[in-house]
Amino acid sequence: MLEKAKGLPADQVFMDIEDAVAPIAKPDARKNIVAALNEGGYEGKVRTVRVNDWTTQWTYADVIEVVEGAGPNLDCIMLPKVQTAEQVVALDMLLTQLEKSNGFEVGRIGIEAQIENALGLINIDAIAQASPRVETLIFGPADFMASINMKSLVVGEQPPGYDVGDAYHYILMRILMAARAYDKQAIDGPYLAIKDLDGYARVAGRSAALGFDGKWVLHPGQVEVANEVYSPRQDDYDHAEMILDAYDYYTSAEGGAKGAVMLGDEMIDEASRKMALVISAKGRAAGMIRTQTFAPPQA
Ligand code: GLV
Ligand code: MG
Repeated sequence: MLEKAKGLPADQVFMDIEDAVAPIAKPDARKNIVAALNEGGYEGKVRTVRVNDWTTQWTYADVIEVVEGAGPNLDCIMLPKVQTAEQVVALDMLLTQLEKSNGFEVGRIGIEAQIENALGLINIDAIAQASPRVETLIFGPADFMASINMKSLVVGEQPPGYDVGDAYHYILMRILMAARAYDKQAIDGPYLAIKDLDGYARVAGRSAALGFDGKWVLHPGQVEVANEVYSPRQDDYDHAEMILDAYDYYTSAEGGAKGAVMLGDEMIDEASRKMALVISAKGRAAGMIRTQTFAPPQA
């Protein structure tokens, strides 16, 4: 898996010492991860390690071994099951000491906070602001479902009996609001039925539609679907670029210095420009190429 991840078109790779690693295998996992990070091959991807959460006995040793062993080749520590801002501060302080004592740049290693229980969600605003290292807020649906006693065993799908909307809407929105308020990335968590790509696309489509920046993949087969779902559709990307060009032109002296204009059948104004910037940024980040250009009207 460590080898295969190198060639995949994913934006990030995270290596796990937490729930996908059995307790007796954790010491070896730390060593394998340090070796893999130092060997390299993950260029262009955010290199992250998920350590165990602060309620276990492993967290401090996970962080020390991984950062001392591979600090310069590591971009982020993912902290699971975050419940309070203090847990983020504790990781921040440990990272700072490790960076100082090893002569690494202080503050470079970021923190990704996984929101996986009721207390974490209630404290999310403080968690997001607990350290400048916090880059990302991640929804952990499996642990979250367990934490709130949700009556279901199928991660990300609607719990049987709930037929009036999306049972995850509040959680997703709460995470997204904190992410946008404090300028963090909002990332959706895993979809466990790795062969069900339609299911992945359906569940990912919900968080993507709300404004999430991406979603975990557990298997190479999910990468392509994820990249597609979180990128704009070609039509929308083209439309966004057209709005930006048209608005640029019409607000200029040459275009009449107007603040609200018609683009086809649609009125566009400053708010339209902001919406278009979002879609255009997502499209550009995904490397999309526009297929239409804006032509100013002939005088
Ligand atoms: C991920 O860690 C999850 O619990 O869903
Ligand atoms: Mg979890």
